[in-house]
Amino acid sequence: MNYLLCVVGFVVLLAIAGADGAGECGRNSPDMEAMKLIPCAEAASDENASVSRSCCLQIKKLGQNTKCLCAVMLSNTAKSSGANPVVAITIPKRCNLANRPVGYKCGSYTLP
Ligand SMILES: *[C@@H]1O[C@H](CO)[C@@H](O)[C@H](O)[C@H]1NC(C)=O
Repeated sequence: MNYLLCVVGFVVLLAIAGADGAGECGRNSPDMEAMKLIPCAEAASDENASVSRSCCLQIKKLGQNTKCLCAVMLSNTAKSSGANPVVAITIPKRCNLANRPVGYKCGSYTLP
């Protein structure tokens, strides 16, 4: 039992450290950056929810590095907080971000 807890704890630590996909967002892991998208939680899980201004502001900041934005939207943190990648990927569009990279490949998803 203790052993199992250790293994689980270690895997969680690795995830927090961003061992997978490290680098997309520079020093911070995508999972850390995902904390900034807390205002987007509803918009990322419900395609019909209106996107809050504070969410759009964060998306705009993160979106200056599209690779990072993709990594954040597809991160385990985003997923475990209920974000649906298919829906999350539509947020830049729903924010009417003028300079968003339409057609950019976010993993297996394409930015609308
Ligand atoms: C969003 O609205 C559409 C059209 O009204 C509906 O078909 C769909 O089920 C809704 N999605 C959610 C997550 O509520």
